[in-house]
Amino acid sequence: MLVVAGPSSEQLAREVASLLGWGLVGIEHKLFPDGESYLRFTKRIEGEEVALVQSITPPQDRSLLQLLFLLRTARELGARKVWAIVPYLAYARQDERYREGEVVSGKLLIDMLNELELDALVTFDVHNPELLKGVKARTIDLSAMPLIAEYFSKLLRNPFVLAPDQEAPERAEVVASILGCEWSWLIKSRDKITGEIETKPQKKFDASGKEVLIVDDIISTGGTVMAAAKIARELGAREVHAACTHPILAGDALRRLREAGIKRVVGTNSIPSQVSEISLAPEICKVLREL
Ligand code: R5P
Repeated sequence: MLVVAGPSSEQLAREVASLLGWGLVGIEHKLFPDGESYLRFTKRIEGEEVALVQSITPPQDRSLLQLLFLLRTARELGARKVWAIVPYLAYARQDERYREGEVVSGKLLIDMLNELELDALVTFDVHNPELLKGVKARTIDLSAMPLIAEYFSKLLRNPFVLAPDQEAPERAEVVASILGCEWSWLIKSRDKITGEIETKPQKKFDASGKEVLIVDDIISTGGTVMAAAKIARELGAREVHAACTHPILAGDALRRLREAGIKRVVGTNSIPSQVSEISLAPEICKVLREL
């Protein structure tokens, strides 16, 4: 059994291979001067069961194309089984045609994966897990929420967990149940054209003196977390922390979050970043041992 290190997740793949004691296959990769990707498997994989680790990290379009190329090539090179380990499944937020004429990229991505005869697809906290129902292969959507709870259990004494929108309550509930604390959630609406958000509590809650931990699947611009943090403070929070599975942190999001007084921002290595303090490797290994 072999772990293949896709260019976007080399470090994570290395960690997984070393924890499992499996062979690691590197991918030689470079960008041609015109911007196209060159990719090459550096070891033979014929007859092998392979787990390709390639998260769809920014720049998402490039990582996605590399993922598709590598999965197809693994089959062409004779791999007996191909498991796709894609910690961040980008495009999962575009799961419907919200405005007339829009491309429903989430569904098209699934169609493309279905062309590749995968044996399994392993993801983490897919924005809309319903999307995965369209995948023909076995799908396993893991959650980083227990890892996030474990990380913060050593840091917070009087926590309160907050979901920043109506799509995250289940995630907040998992974290709160592990931390043994109260939790609540907010309602967020987003202007479909400008992207501007408006957030309000779904019911009044008291965060007086609490260390509020905002948990979400993705932090991209940080706008969602900043809006939630403002409400948490208005309701008495002593400190605000934020954690997510996929720290995209677009542009200067991290600086803005820090300037907004978020004491600690933490994410996983689904997307390598300055705040990727939690490794998904042990969870990936658990699943691979069972596949
Ligand atoms: C969408 O609802 C997601 O769960 C996140 O809340 C969202 O993607 C975060 O984006 P941003 O950081 O740009 O507000």
